[in-house]
Amino acid sequence: MAPSLLAADFARLIDDVSKVEAAGCEILHLDIMDGHFVPNISFGVPVIEKLRPVSKMFFDTHLMITDPIKYAEPFVKAGSDLLTFHIEVTNEPRRVIEHIRSLGANVAVCLNPDTPPAAIESIVSEVDMVLVMSVWPGFGGQKFMPSAVDKLRQVRAMLRPDQRLEVDGGIAPATIADCARAGADTLVAGSAVFGQPDPAGAMHELQRLAEAACR
Ligand code: DX5
Ligand code: ZN
Repeated sequence: MAPSLLAADFARLIDDVSKVEAAGCEILHLDIMDGHFVPNISFGVPVIEKLRPVSKMFFDTHLMITDPIKYAEPFVKAGSDLLTFHIEVTNEPRRVIEHIRSLGANVAVCLNPDTPPAAIESIVSEVDMVLVMSVWPGFGGQKFMPSAVDKLRQVRAMLRPDQRLEVDGGIAPATIADCARAGADTLVAGSAVFGQPDPAGAMHELQRLAEAACR
């Protein structure tokens, strides 16, 4: 599980972060929006910088921004362990991958709902993870798009066993099993974790459903 900070209480970030970390969570999903690539602005480098010393979780930073090369360095310096860029923002994905790696971070590439798996074919062997969007990026709390399930299956078939497959958007008790069965191993959930009265309990229940689906 990778709970998305976007759905946390921004006036009490550390409380929410501690709740899931104390419950065994190892990955925190950080949604960065620039108001250009997506029609919304979220938070940036200073928030990650402040969270870094108080959390041991793996910081999975989802860059919904038009210029990942320009901003990669401050996000890695702030404490991101992995940067995800969108394939839609560049004609030179290899340059983006090499730049992020040169900074010492892991790299993932992300596909919007209307971007076919073929768009990442030439570089897929070079990334640590692929992120399949199951909503249009920009906002939390949207409805899961079922077309993502088939895309997850297709992308899984392109990956080596050591490469991860993440899904993001509308992940909830009703949608998580299909995604896990289709090969997603990293499941982002915002509203279904931090939007719940008991985020830790909600996270455990989602994890249980995902594991049961793969048995
Ligand atoms: C959407 C973000 C997601 C978002 C998911 O642009 O990339 O990570 O926080 O939120 P939920 O789980 O509420 O759909
Ligand atoms: Zn995200």
